Amino acid sequence: MRSLIDILELDTTEIQQLIDKANDIIANPVKYSEKCKGKKLATLFFEPSTRTRLSFEAAMYELGGNVLGFSEAQSSSAAKGESIADTAKTTSCYADIIAMRHPKEGAPLVAAMNASIPVINAGDGGHNHPTQTLTDLLTIYREKGRLDNLTVGFCGDLKFGRTVHSLINALSRYENIKFVLVSPVELKLPSYVKETLKKNNLEYVQTTDLDSVMPELDILYMTRVQRERFFNEEDYLRLKDSYILRPERLNTAKADLAIMHPLPRVNEISVEIDNDPRACYFKQVLNGKYIRMALILKLLEVE
Ligand code: CP
Repeated sequence: MRSLIDILELDTTEIQQLIDKANDIIANPVKYSEKCKGKKLATLFFEPSTRTRLSFEAAMYELGGNVLGFSEAQSSSAAKGESIADTAKTTSCYADIIAMRHPKEGAPLVAAMNASIPVINAGDGGHNHPTQTLTDLLTIYREKGRLDNLTVGFCGDLKFGRTVHSLINALSRYENIKFVLVSPVELKLPSYVKETLKKNNLEYVQTTDLDSVMPELDILYMTRVQRERFFNEEDYLRLKDSYILRPERLNTAKADLAIMHPLPRVNEISVEIDNDPRACYFKQVLNGKYIRMALILKLLEVE
């Protein structure tokens, strides 16, 4: 029995297999429509979500399975003091696989250590979000036809953005990726993530100036400033509008730039950009369902 807590638990061969499976599901949805008949997915969400929870649920329904769960801690027995370990043991009696989101780093790992069914980390605090990373990798692959030889810009809240941390770790294993890290000084990439880049001798630049690096980017991964992880509102208000992507900012960008965002967005990408052919963030949303279908099949060992 296998769980997925950190994207690095999947090697690049397995990632490619998941991407290939997702592409096959996209091409042949009917072939997969009963693969999980009789199986149940439990979505245990202790923190708000739209995409991750709904895409997991849609994924399981489209595989012919069923879904149970809760969408906020207050409607579970966590509100009465139940531990993660006991919640995981209990859910193992009712479901075949768990997707868990929790505000505390490490909570899905604790669940995996106590569950008797696979646990998928659906986002833990500012730490990791491996299924968003799989979504992002599928999107990059579908847009660019490769996961190597790319200049990838990350812009916004690189300190608290767990999707950024997971995607940098994942891309660090591919050839000739150049990382361009654009953030306010206060929201720089944490040193423990930067260590991965240094340890692997990967090329990266850090800057506060998005416009100066725009022409070289193949991918621009925008992120929201994560209000819920700030210690004080004053700092959030000062930093929240550091980068707003408006159409004129794309004048110097490549014609085939892929603009990505894990969403939700607040105002860091102007809605006028939604109709630009380079905007990929709603394609990302859809890709998230297909890659989660592929992951559920893998972890449930369904052929
Ligand atoms: N990208 C993402 O994790 O979105 P949600 O918070 O809506 O799940």
